[in-house]
Amino acid sequence: MMSTISPSILNADAANLGAALVAVSNADFAHVDVMDNHFVPNLTWGLPVVEALVNRNVLPLDAHLMIEDPDRWAPAYAEVGCASVTFHHEACRDPKKLVKEIHRHGALAAAALKPGTDPKVLKPYLSELDMVLVMTVEPGFGGQAFMPQMLPKVQEIRQWLKAENLEIRIQVDGGISRANLAQAAEAGADVFVAGSAIFRANNPASEVEVLRGIAQE
Ligand code: DX5
Ligand code: ZN
Repeated sequence: MMSTISPSILNADAANLGAALVAVSNADFAHVDVMDNHFVPNLTWGLPVVEALVNRNVLPLDAHLMIEDPDRWAPAYAEVGCASVTFHHEACRDPKKLVKEIHRHGALAAAALKPGTDPKVLKPYLSELDMVLVMTVEPGFGGQAFMPQMLPKVQEIRQWLKAENLEIRIQVDGGISRANLAQAAEAGADVFVAGSAIFRANNPASEVEVLRGIAQE
């Protein structure tokens, strides 16, 4: 499967988010972090801003919902046109039902795991997912250090997928850069979110190409 680079616009200029998408329009996806100041101790933007970004039609968007009550909110992100909607397992009451709802509204569905969450919690609905997100930092802020101790979790999930012949992607998010992307790919990840590595580079678009090159090695 081809690797995907998904720039996170969390640390881009918040007054120019549309321009941030244009700056990385050579990427495959853009990753939009929604935080509610309850599930994580930080607050970003919500549905109207994400809808406006979808309507720019620059890149397919993946909404990473770091919010409480995704059962209520996640389908709306699919409905406004996000290509993919990622909810946190820890916050979700009925993941099986939520995955169905996200699909019914026309988006891919992904479940995210905080660093302390055992991946076995996914087993009851793994086969229904399009993607699993293994967080490689504690969710809430960009610019944190990558946690290499999450790589065995990526390996374990990749083994389950292989054993069951499931075509499900594994995304890593948090501290991903030139320095560790190869390790994450080696462990079995194939979708790479990078925020500060891309938006703090002199040329975000060429950093996307550098990361893609490493992912394809
Ligand atoms: C953190 C967010 C990430 C973050 C990634 O909670 O989910 O998407 O923006 O930014 P970097 O790559 O700087 O860790
Ligand atoms: Zn994220």
